[in-house]
Amino acid sequence: MSEIEEAHAARVWFVTGSSRGLGRALVTAALAAGDLVVATARRPDALAKELGSHGDRALVLPLDVTDADAARKAVDAALDRFGRIDVLVNNAGYANVSPVETADDDDFRAQFETNFWGVYHVTKAALPTMRRQGSGTVVQFSSVGGRVGGSPGIASYQAAKFAVDGFTRSLAAETAPFGVRFMVVEPSGFATDWAGSSMTVHAIPEAYDETVGAMNRRVRQSAVGAAGDPERAADIVVRTVRRGEVPSHLLLGVNAVTMALEYSRGQVAEASAWEAVSRSADFAEPFPVELPPA
Ligand SMILES: NC(=O)c1ccc[n+]([C@@H]2O[C@H](COP(=O)([O-])OP(=O)(O)OC[C@H]3O[C@@H](n4cnc5c(N)ncnc54)[C@H](OP(=O)(O)O)[C@@H]3O)[C@@H](O)[C@H]2O)c1
Repeated sequence: MSEIEEAHAARVWFVTGSSRGLGRALVTAALAAGDLVVATARRPDALAKELGSHGDRALVLPLDVTDADAARKAVDAALDRFGRIDVLVNNAGYANVSPVETADDDDFRAQFETNFWGVYHVTKAALPTMRRQGSGTVVQFSSVGGRVGGSPGIASYQAAKFAVDGFTRSLAAETAPFGVRFMVVEPSGFATDWAGSSMTVHAIPEAYDETVGAMNRRVRQSAVGAAGDPERAADIVVRTVRRGEVPSHLLLGVNAVTMALEYSRGQVAEASAWEAVSRSADFAEPFPVELPPA
């Protein structure tokens, strides 16, 4: 197939967390682009009705991403219908708010089950197919918080997003010879239910009001009017995936790109300020070296 034919050929998408928000927008955008979609959701009934008009081009399947067996079954069902998976989108995710000190261990762990282990289960289930195909794109929905971090109150969520990034970098290196591509998407605030009905806010003790409390108030305000448009995000992801090459990371939103650039500059400045000290830890380097002024 020529490159032009390939760019026009319909791709098969497999999307997690398709019931609403960014996942739902992606399903719509991929179908609008003429592609075929396996839309998965924990409660698929309403989605199946909504996508009914697309006939055989959309397959709706039940999938809670915390269930590895269900992930394998969903991938098998997708292959039964379409014979291939070209684009896997690990989109399902959520955050709850609590200081670490008073976090409920089960709740902290449950967020990891979806935000990290869900990505692991579904990616692992789809990987043999992509390896056999000699092609495939895996789109991991992280967050700008999974690059910059540091938001009080959502430590489990952000740690899991960092884990997704680390996992994806290793996996990309492992599977590069098979033609599998990975793109980590890093949005800032988008107008979805992420900071609304999807988020449980646990008790915030007085001592944490100026950190976790303040963050929570900021998030509540932005939940009403987040700057990011999910339809634009979905359109950008679909167009990017159709491109010959995808970036390893795709920031989405003004805040995302502003925060990431500021963070990178800070990282370079800090590493440079400490460079001589860092080098001095090796046997062959001059030692001791004076620490930079405090
Ligand atoms: N919106 C933002 O501001 C923002 C910013 C940065 C990153 N993100 C990331 O973007 C992705 C999509 O979030 P969103 O903004 O679209 O939020 P959303 O509107 O709350 O939608 C979240 C979706 O994830 C699904 N989900 C949650 N746990 C699941 C599980 N265990 N198995 C399967 N599906 C599950 C939900 O399904 P149910 O309907 O069954 O609950 C829902 O479809 C997430 O990974 C999120 O972390 C969002």
